[in-house]
Amino acid sequence: MKSLVFAANWKMNQAPADAALFMRTFVGQYARQTDRRVLFFPPALSLHSVVEAIHDRADLQAGVQNIHWEDSGAFTGEISAGLARGAGARFVLIGHSERRHLFGETEADTAKKVAAALKAGLTPVICVGETLPEREAGETLRVIRRQLRAALEGQEAGVVAGVLIAYEPVWAIGTGRTATPQDAAEAHAALKTELRALGGERSGAVPVLYGGSVNRANVAGLLAVEDVDGVLVGGASLDAEQWLAIVRS
Ligand code: 13P
Repeated sequence: MKSLVFAANWKMNQAPADAALFMRTFVGQYARQTDRRVLFFPPALSLHSVVEAIHDRADLQAGVQNIHWEDSGAFTGEISAGLARGAGARFVLIGHSERRHLFGETEADTAKKVAAALKAGLTPVICVGETLPEREAGETLRVIRRQLRAALEGQEAGVVAGVLIAYEPVWAIGTGRTATPQDAAEAHAALKTELRALGGERSGAVPVLYGGSVNRANVAGLLAVEDVDGVLVGGASLDAEQWLAIVRS
């Protein structure tokens, strides 16, 4: 049986009190399952509520949605990997499509952020995905392999096995359109091949999550795909009952 990762990306939702309420409901109803981990990516301001609620549950972990690559200094509005780690984060999303497309994050930025995360002891969850025009032009695999290589640029082969990857086709995020299991199978297999090329055979075991309009109705079909090791969920992770249904699937 494969080991699964369920990751909730709350984006710019769930104030500290809402996050605390959500987590009370979730932790109270979700019993540990040995074949899966559940990760929460609240807004940084609500990280404390999540960290406090998961307490000593090793199967539940928290992360942040973004970091700056510098350690500290005059960068108004930014948070560093060290600050996030100090506040209880263990993971960080890097290169989410909203960072790339709404905030102009470049592939070079993703590499600097991956390096900063690893240095501070945060596990990067590297997000890759093609736009609709790129898919229509038959560029999907070329684009996602390039994004993966760029984010890991400069890293030694040995560190590759320690990251997580999320394949999130941009056209599937928040649109209600999901990749078919066939689309996901092809992209995930290509990413696993690239991971092995970059980090050796051990890196073939790096979890590759699927994201983009995942919900309780379609999650089982996606998880049935051989190389889909979990899901990264936005909208459907905001409601505790729906999230419970997803992580139990
Ligand atoms: P939705 O699940 O809302 O489509 O968002 C996906 C996503 O971007 C998760 O990071």
